[in-house]
Amino acid sequence: MNNSQIGFFDSGVGLFSILKETKKLLPRENFVIFADQGHNPYGEKTKSQIIRYAKDATNFLIKKHKIKMMVLACNTATVLALESLRKKFDIPIVGTVPAVKPAFGTSKDTRVAIMSTPATAKSKYLASLIKDFGDNSRTFKVGCAGLEEAIEYGNERLIFATLDFYLAKIKKFKPDVIVLGCTHYPLVKNRIKSSLPKAKIIDSGQAIARRIKDILIGTNSLSKKKIGDIYYTTGDPRIFSKITGDLLKSKIEAEYAQVS
Ligand code: DGL
Repeated sequence: MNNSQIGFFDSGVGLFSILKETKKLLPRENFVIFADQGHNPYGEKTKSQIIRYAKDATNFLIKKHKIKMMVLACNTATVLALESLRKKFDIPIVGTVPAVKPAFGTSKDTRVAIMSTPATAKSKYLASLIKDFGDNSRTFKVGCAGLEEAIEYGNERLIFATLDFYLAKIKKFKPDVIVLGCTHYPLVKNRIKSSLPKAKIIDSGQAIARRIKDILIGTNSLSKKKIGDIYYTTGDPRIFSKITGDLLKSKIEAEYAQVS
């Protein structure tokens, strides 16, 4: 048993789509949340920048809170930095990748549209997931530049305009399944669903929550007691507290994280 916190990391509010599922499955776990909003958006950064941000955040959480596990609740950070982090740190590190495998299921005839940040769409990691579990000729990768930022800042007009632009392209592809390959996108799932009602929409939230649970059981480190969660941002703590409080429907007081 281990009551230490689990570190949860993203460039911003996308982490809540994974955290929500994890809290449902593991109500006694304690979390320390790190939103790297000072460097948002990740989708348009280089690989070496993202590796540095993810290492700094992991270091901060290990030193300050002795976290028992780090969750990259960010597809972009996972496809670009997971390998480097696993080499550097010896705690379990769980990544989030676009749900390509479940999208294709057992049939390679399925037509799959993958919405993600531009960096994830271009990554070798995603290309190899498609090669291993899908079929390139039936896959449409859509790097949705600007969508993550519009969601991060809650700019509804921009969210709708950006989404409509990409959904028009996706409609022409006629997908059976749409994969939400950025953790911010489940926050606008209803709008995607109403635009393409026949397509099945999948994200990685529940699968990541189950993976976290399996590792905690396997390493005998489930928490016995809910103590509380801590929230950090590298952006403006007042704004993050307000958005987080609204999303989680409780009063949150986030702190500024001084990482270097
Ligand atoms: N939530 C992150 C993801 O899943 C977005 C990264 C970003 O562009 O800041 O990729």
